[in-house]
Amino acid sequence: MELSGKTVVITGGASGIGLATAVRMAQAGAQLVLGDIEEATLAQAVTGLRERGATVVGVATDVTREDDVVALREAALANFGGAHLVFNNAGVAAGAAIATPTSVWRWVLDVDLFGVIYGVNAFVPLFLEQNEGYVVNTASLAGLAGAPGMGPYCAAKFAVVGLSESLFHELAMSQKNVHVSVLCPGFVRTRIHESARNMPRALVSYAEDPAAQLFADVASNAVNAGIDPDVVAGAVCDAVLTERFWVLPHERSAVRSTELRAEWMRGGSPMTFDLMAATQP
Ligand SMILES: NC(=O)c1ccc[n+]([C@@H]2O[C@H](COP(=O)([O-])OP(=O)(O)OC[C@H]3O[C@@H](n4cnc5c(N)ncnc54)[C@H](O)[C@@H]3O)[C@@H](O)[C@H]2O)c1
Repeated sequence: MELSGKTVVITGGASGIGLATAVRMAQAGAQLVLGDIEEATLAQAVTGLRERGATVVGVATDVTREDDVVALREAALANFGGAHLVFNNAGVAAGAAIATPTSVWRWVLDVDLFGVIYGVNAFVPLFLEQNEGYVVNTASLAGLAGAPGMGPYCAAKFAVVGLSESLFHELAMSQKNVHVSVLCPGFVRTRIHESARNMPRALVSYAEDPAAQLFADVASNAVNAGIDPDVVAGAVCDAVLTERFWVLPHERSAVRSTELRAEWMRGGSPMTFDLMAATQP
């Protein structure tokens, strides 16, 4: 899909991978609707993009609320008369597989999985009706290989890979001009390891518990050694242009961990997730 003149909706668009992709897509001539839960950061992002000549609106959005995601579609229709691409990208990470409170599991799954489901439900029927559209769902290398210290995150990201593959096949069967890609990066230099900043108030006591620091501690070094979000944004734009399903900015790690899993399935040794290898493209 050519991006020039198209309307692109990005969740989690105020920072990190979402904002970097907004910059790239605006440069390619798209107009943007950015949704994010951090209103001040979103306002800054919109101002910064406008200063660079982008046509953009920001909409305060909590992707755990289906109505908010539907409102993003309506904002695209009201401001630009259409919507052509949705990047279901907002995400958070918290908790290990052992002893993470159910409420924290639910938060991570609500943002990382249901946020994507709401995006698919809000936009795909419109795309099919107009016979034009593109869905990009953000998963992770943690959606291709289980990693210690990241139980809820891996559960959500594996699910995003699964739903994206299902959607790929359903769209192929529909023979419509609607496509999907799934983004599975390794570590990227963003604030993902500081996700607790967006935890609902009811979970703040969990966020302050030292046991809950596991993800932040494990991940912060790897995130800081990760690739620049602009590299990921470039990979997303290339995938959209060429209609490529797998978007793998850390392709070697993605393929290697998938091969090691297959060996494990055939009776080989359990694979271990190599965090520092997942920082390298
Ligand atoms: N950074 C990495 O190493 C990495 C690796 C693989 C996948 N990812 C995924 O990339 C995506 C983007 O994350 P990032 O790395 O840019 O981190 P980030 O923290 O910089 O950006 C995430 C954005 O999502 C927003 N957000 C959080 N909860 C939200 C909610 N309920 N509703 C709406 N917006 C919400 C945040 O405010 C933030 O702007 C996430 O899905 C993340 O899981 C990141």
